[in-house]
Amino acid sequence: MPHHHLSFAIASLMLATTMASSAAPPASEFIVPVLQELCASCHGEKKQKGKLALHDINVNIAGGKDIERWEKILEMVSIGDMPPEDETQPTKEQREVLVEWISSELEKIGRGPTAVQRQL
Ligand code: HEC
Repeated sequence: MPHHHLSFAIASLMLATTMASSAAPPASEFIVPVLQELCASCHGEKKQKGKLALHDINVNIAGGKDIERWEKILEMVSIGDMPPEDETQPTKEQREVLVEWISSELEKIGRGPTAVQRQL
């Protein structure tokens, strides 16, 4: 095989690998720091407003035991009710990432907004 074909194949493979991994970084890499930064002061180990703690939430939504907690978070974050309006708000991007990621994880197990819409 001529050399340039092989190196093209390798380059494509590397590109595909990079793209696949950047499309789906582990949840803990972006979700946990955001919750930590924006929510932990009121929903952490010390304070648990609304009886909700987020410091020990299981990021494995689909296989985890925290489905209901995630559904509430999704609701609050998507309607913009949390964090409270006089507190530091997530950036538009952080809010989008949270909403999209939680929704898609819930969808895997037939929960979340799309599943709710289907029931109506
Ligand atoms: C300044 C304090 C504060 C911050 C920061 C905050 N919350 Fe809250 N949260 C509250 C309070 C107080 C309540 C209970 C009363 C209410 O619902 O307004 C609450 C309630 C909630 C509830 C509803 C719980 C239930 O069982 O109904 C959810 C879900 C929630 N917060 C998620 C979040 C998320 C996610 C963040 C971060 C993006 C966040 N909160 C940041 C104060 C806070």
